[in-house]
Amino acid sequence: MAHLLHLDSSPRDARSRSRQLTREFVEAWKQAHPADTVTYRDIGRDPLPHVSKAWIAAAYTPPEQRSPELWNAIHLSDRLVDELLSADICVIGVPMYNFSVPSGMKAYIDQIVRIGRTFEFVPEEAENPYKPLVLGKKMFIITSRGISGYGPGEKYEMLNYQDPYLRGVFGFIGITDITFIAVENEESGERSLAESIANARTQIAQLAAR
Ligand SMILES: Cc1cc2nc3c(=O)[nH]c(=O)nc-3n(C[C@H](O)[C@H](O)[C@H](O)COP(=O)(O)O)c2cc1C
Repeated sequence: MAHLLHLDSSPRDARSRSRQLTREFVEAWKQAHPADTVTYRDIGRDPLPHVSKAWIAAAYTPPEQRSPELWNAIHLSDRLVDELLSADICVIGVPMYNFSVPSGMKAYIDQIVRIGRTFEFVPEEAENPYKPLVLGKKMFIITSRGISGYGPGEKYEMLNYQDPYLRGVFGFIGITDITFIAVENEESGERSLAESIANARTQIAQLAAR
């Protein structure tokens, strides 16, 4: 039995392509693995706070020395990290906004990339002092974009700060088993959008059934 963490980061609701497809992914997964459990968090429609001065102070203060103000600043981050650590599989919907991720997704990343919790800094190991702490997870990221052409060798590859960034930052904390599913062409006409959604659905059916 596995535990899934399902996150959506689009601020849209019914019109969101990524949201629709993460839902379909989790439904297909549940059909194939009925005993698995799911935690859902909507970081798109229920946005997380940005990192603050007190948050930074709390993250770098040993727990036993934190004041009530520092605990208050960091407790949500602790909950988000606990949620991530208790998941075996993460399913995340991420739109492309201005060639990168929406600010709500960035706020989530800033909350969960935490020294001492999701990575360690070991100064004695000068060659590679950063040690990931989030190990053994599988991640499925469903990206959505208005147009296409962001893949390797394609016209807009150089503008793609979305999936390379997500692969980099989640890899930094130890999540290296990441599969991307892209829904593209919302702004390129009904036909190319429909084709892209159909391809994403085929991928989802295969991945969820595994
Ligand atoms: C603020 C904003 C910025 C966007 N920037 C891009 C972009 O840089 N490249 C792109 O291909 N599409 C861009 N889009 C289009 C979205 O990626 C597209 O509508 C996607 O389907 C949104 O995800 P959702 O359907 O899950 O809400 C942008 C949309 C918005 C609202």
